[in-house]
Amino acid sequence: MCGIIGYSGHRPAVPLLLEGLHRLEYRGYDSAGVAFEQGAHLQVVKAAGKLAALEEKLEKVPCMLATAGIGHTRWATHGLPVERNAHPHLSQGGGIAIIHNGIIENFQELKDELLARGHTFLSDTDTEVLAHLIGEERRMADNLGDAFARALRRAHGAYAVVMLAPEELGVIYAARMAAPLLMGVGTGEVFVASDIPAFLPYTREVVFLEDGEIARIEGGRWSVFSLADLSPVEKTVSHVPWDMQAAAKDGYRHFMLKEIMEQPRVIQDCLSGRITESASGHRVCLRELDGLPVPERLHIVACGTSYNAGLWGRQLLEHTGGIPTDLDIASEFRYRDPLLRPQDMVLVISQSGETADTLAALRLAREKGCKVIGLCNVLGSSIAREADVVLYTQAGPEISVASTKAMCSQMTLLALIALYYGQRRQPACADPELLEAIMGLPVLLAGALPAMRQKAEALAVRFSSARSFFYLGRGQYYALALEGALKLKELSYIHAEGYASGEMKHGPIALIDPAFPTFALALDNALFPKVKSNIQEVLARQGRVIALVQERDGKAPDLEVEEMWVLPEAHPVAASFLALPALQLFSYHVADYLGKDVDQPRNLAKSVTVE
Ligand code: M6R
Repeated sequence: MCGIIGYSGHRPAVPLLLEGLHRLEYRGYDSAGVAFEQGAHLQVVKAAGKLAALEEKLEKVPCMLATAGIGHTRWATHGLPVERNAHPHLSQGGGIAIIHNGIIENFQELKDELLARGHTFLSDTDTEVLAHLIGEERRMADNLGDAFARALRRAHGAYAVVMLAPEELGVIYAARMAAPLLMGVGTGEVFVASDIPAFLPYTREVVFLEDGEIARIEGGRWSVFSLADLSPVEKTVSHVPWDMQAAAKDGYRHFMLKEIMEQPRVIQDCLSGRITESASGHRVCLRELDGLPVPERLHIVACGTSYNAGLWGRQLLEHTGGIPTDLDIASEFRYRDPLLRPQDMVLVISQSGETADTLAALRLAREKGCKVIGLCNVLGSSIAREADVVLYTQAGPEISVASTKAMCSQMTLLALIALYYGQRRQPACADPELLEAIMGLPVLLAGALPAMRQKAEALAVRFSSARSFFYLGRGQYYALALEGALKLKELSYIHAEGYASGEMKHGPIALIDPAFPTFALALDNALFPKVKSNIQEVLARQGRVIALVQERDGKAPDLEVEEMWVLPEAHPVAASFLALPALQLFSYHVADYLGKDVDQPRNLAKSVTVE
């Protein structure tokens, strides 16, 4: 969702703000703006559309020497994505500028009150109401920080908000409530941002703000206070191990392609330190879980791609881990009043660790007395901090809005969790063959990816004119069918539906015609005859079929379809790790061939921090 960057230090702020905003582009946005000090006044520049439009406007602004400023990329919630709704927003009279990520739920009530006091508003946003409210509180408050806190205490909802006001030159204030915000502490300079990549070239020393905290930043100095009573809060500075290369394109045309191609390394990093060798063979070692009992029942909760990873992992958790496992979409979970018993555990999966619905599900589970395991990628994210135990996927920053390597790492970790619980139930490893297969994944995948990329590109050209697509799979491949369809939809805007192969004849098959191709995942050797029958049903209705299959005894299986995509033979679980990048690469190349904005698809945000 919206990207936030603030800076106070010794360098010209505007170029740093723009650089930070570029690094936050992946979060998704439709307009952008900056505010900085020009002498004793505030200069605000904003533009609808991409950052290039803002940069063009800034070229015409003379003498941008400010060393403090704030910048924002907006993903529209209240009001159209037009310039007047772009942030920063100003208080009445223009003395205070703020940027905001989140939703002020009682904004209408506050707006009515301010309108009655004679305020006039220039935008349709809840953020402008907050800016005016701070200005109004400033009349009664002792100082600017106090006014900021007083206004925020009246605002209900979620926010990460940063304020700049020439009343205190060179100072920025920041506050957080249920939306991500952290500080990057450099030498003689401090950044505040929605996410680490925004300031990664300058510092890896990070202070994570908590809900209900306010930070005051002035040059290289910073302090944190409680929103409730402005009492000082002790914070620790954490070092993040991410490096710049991990957040750069590394010679690839798009972050998405880079992130797909780095999956062998991602699996390796996810396995790192989690497998030990003893006389009796390899064992999975997940120390984070050692202090918790083996759950009687596990509830997996997640959204989007993370949900698909959970669906994929459920079968392993039940069969290998021996744990009855339920699965919910996070936005449904909290509203269906789930039956949770204290001896159950909840496993929330989230790449960003900030997805609002997943975070709310975590809180509900904890309220009901369940222990929560967080499976996250982003260090220090809200879910990582609020879960009883966090297992990091260790995939490095995922910049492309479309999630790729995150799912690969989530699947790896889910397989390890299943093996780990299997081990806790029996002294010996639950499934040594599976563990060996998982350990062999980096090499298997690295060997297969170059040819897969070529095949995906060729298929993309042939099938990019389709208006709709089916993705079919059974067993664990059903989860991958959902993921394949999600990727195609979000990247190329081609309608796609993922279905359990056996469900086709219960209705969807009516849609099949020569213009509605099917991508069939036919990798499961045990279920192959069944999937083959489902494919025949599609072919009998003149449907075009791409079948993703694996070799058996060095040969392609017996199947007559328009396109057969043959992957190397692999362990049944390992085959999923080959199928996943095949699906990702196909969607990537279709979208690229169609000229779509691959890394920032329209209407999407990388981390969905509102309900
Ligand atoms: O950060 P999370 O894993 O919680 O995000 C969940 C979804 O928003 C995310 O996976 C989304 O579906 C992606 N755009 C998929 O590519």
